[in-house]
Amino acid sequence: MSQQQTNLERSILVTSALPYANGPIHLGHLVEYIQTDIWARFQRLRGNTCYYVCADDAHGTPIMLRARQDDITPEELIAAVQKEHEADFADFHIGFDNYYTTHSEENRHFASNIYLKLREDGHIRTETIKQAYDPEAEMFLPDRFIKGTCPKCGTEDQYGDNCEVCGATYDPTELKNPVSVVSGATPIEKDSEQYFFKLSDFSEMLQQWLKAGHVQSEVANKLEEWFEEGLQDWDISRNAPYWGFEIPDAPGKYFYVWLDAPIGYMASFKNFCDKHGIDFDDYWAADSDNELYHFIGKDIARFHTLFWPAVLEGSGYRKPTAVFCHGFLTVNGQKMSKSRGTFIKARTYLDNLNPEYLRYYYTAKLSSGVDDIDLNLDDFMQRVNSDLVGKVVNIASRCAGFISKKFGGQLSAELPEPGLYNEMVAAGDIIAEHYENREYNKAVREIMAQADRANVYIDENKPWVLIKEEGRGDDVQRICTQGLNMFRLLMTWLKPILPATAEKSEAFLNTEFSWASISEPLLSHGINKFKPLLTRIEKEQIEAMTHDSIEQTTVNDDAAEETLSGPLADDPIADEINFDDFARVDLRIAKIVKAKHVEGADKLLQLTLDLGDGSNDKTRRNVFAGIKSAYKPEDLEGKLTVMVANLAPRKMRFGISEGMVLAAGPGGKDLFILNPDDGAIPGMKVK
Ligand code: MSP
Ligand code: ZN
Repeated sequence: MSQQQTNLERSILVTSALPYANGPIHLGHLVEYIQTDIWARFQRLRGNTCYYVCADDAHGTPIMLRARQDDITPEELIAAVQKEHEADFADFHIGFDNYYTTHSEENRHFASNIYLKLREDGHIRTETIKQAYDPEAEMFLPDRFIKGTCPKCGTEDQYGDNCEVCGATYDPTELKNPVSVVSGATPIEKDSEQYFFKLSDFSEMLQQWLKAGHVQSEVANKLEEWFEEGLQDWDISRNAPYWGFEIPDAPGKYFYVWLDAPIGYMASFKNFCDKHGIDFDDYWAADSDNELYHFIGKDIARFHTLFWPAVLEGSGYRKPTAVFCHGFLTVNGQKMSKSRGTFIKARTYLDNLNPEYLRYYYTAKLSSGVDDIDLNLDDFMQRVNSDLVGKVVNIASRCAGFISKKFGGQLSAELPEPGLYNEMVAAGDIIAEHYENREYNKAVREIMAQADRANVYIDENKPWVLIKEEGRGDDVQRICTQGLNMFRLLMTWLKPILPATAEKSEAFLNTEFSWASISEPLLSHGINKFKPLLTRIEKEQIEAMTHDSIEQTTVNDDAAEETLSGPLADDPIADEINFDDFARVDLRIAKIVKAKHVEGADKLLQLTLDLGDGSNDKTRRNVFAGIKSAYKPEDLEGKLTVMVANLAPRKMRFGISEGMVLAAGPGGKDLFILNPDDGAIPGMKVK
């Protein structure tokens, strides 16, 4: 669905899905937050009012379990995670107007009221169903509180809802040898009263709504299948112990996390309205004319396109103008993988690379469809370097110096090629249309086509040649004025994608960018000194990011370890390599001549390795290894091990690391470095 741009200013509220408060933001999540943020920034650049709100999704069993495991309260856990999430988003320039939590008074208020209204109108029913019960702890057990042997592949110690090894999903009653995580007792089945939302009451409304273009056609088609099977009523209650809101008039029963999560959109917006004197009902009342959009991933489409509109309808609120669904991120063509170093956390990326590179790359690949998008790391580097650095920034750097050095920072009074300028301005309409329709890849293609035109103009007019000729000064000033005005157009169009670089460019050109003002070029206008805007991506930065990501998983990083499940579960054998690939890795026997703690590092030991007979320094290597959890330094000294001897030296926080030692195991105490027999001699090649 696309709203055509009119002269009337639009009032828009957009949301991204609320990330769970039990783990870090990774590059997969960022597809969504970047996509939404760009759309919101684009709307504002066009002069519309656009609010963008989000929150942490702070309820549910996994969060309760994670807090127990860490021996902290759920409140402490969600506060700590929210702080990290907010820092990650801020550093990626995700410009929320409000970032809140679903564990808030506003959300409790809305969730309770919505539920009571649904109940009053007869859309809630109760039913007694059989549920697993722990007779020793005397409590009902959510799926994740039961462990047992997978009925499909026979792996032991799997949760009651799905197997982390073979991926099967099943009912807890199907587990073999089930045990309660709480007491270790064998669960029994016991009657339990549950609360159901009668989704089927809304069957007709939903079918109409879906046909009316509020969701992408791919999503509508998928939903057709569910309609054909008939809509099932939805169990919105969970038994204590549960981390969430208690259901009114139902002691010991809690709202299932997916009931109050989308209501969190309203609660976050309400919290924002109260702080800024904005009328909440203007955006949420049943008769609101303002626009409401939810950006989500395809995995949660059912919650947003069936349950959510039905809940809104049943409780007297407006429904979304549209739900925009995107695909999943793959890295180098495959599912993100910890062992390959492609499960990249937002923070790990930020430690190594500029966030705007990723914003640009995702934009260049995103369309309005639900196809997965691939982050190919080689293509990423090449694309950013050639488009942003080679094409866009290059225009400014080729023109800026002459204007500031030869013409006192003054642009000329007229453009030498107003026709070219106006043609480029006109391309802005199609670019705007692509942004509006979330065809970002097409917007980027068009912007780069215009950047090519600008570069051709400068190549043909060669200000750097003219400047050496007698009496051509005015021409140089005018050519560079043309160049900088074309640069201004490009940066205005790129501003939703590259907010920080756009801001620097605004300072440089001494003007503020907006879509409406670019039809008038900057003439007889003073500009400021040019400072470098963006630098090239170096291969080492990408390697360092991959390396850090691998290190986090093989070496007892707490968060990563928690999600590492068994030696093979998330560790499929890597892509096949040929013999030459293998032969490039130079593995050598090394002697650990010294090992010591590293001040300020929780995971690292500093090793001095010797690849020779110890007679001189040339064969010595300094290596930082993340094995502190498993080894005492004094136990390592004098031992032999295996190292990668031809790995490029890498600068780490504590110094240069000149190679790597090999270790295996899930982490913590269970981490084993290779320890060849005494017969081996330092420097020997491992074959
Ligand atoms: N808490 C729920 C959403 C509740 S909204 C009322 C949730 N959280 S999540 O943290 O798992 O995901 C947040 C968003 O990130 C979802 O829209 C999800 O689809 C998206 N992504 C998570 N991993 C992703 C990829 N690997 N690729 C693209 N998007 C991904 O779901
Ligand atoms: Zn299994």
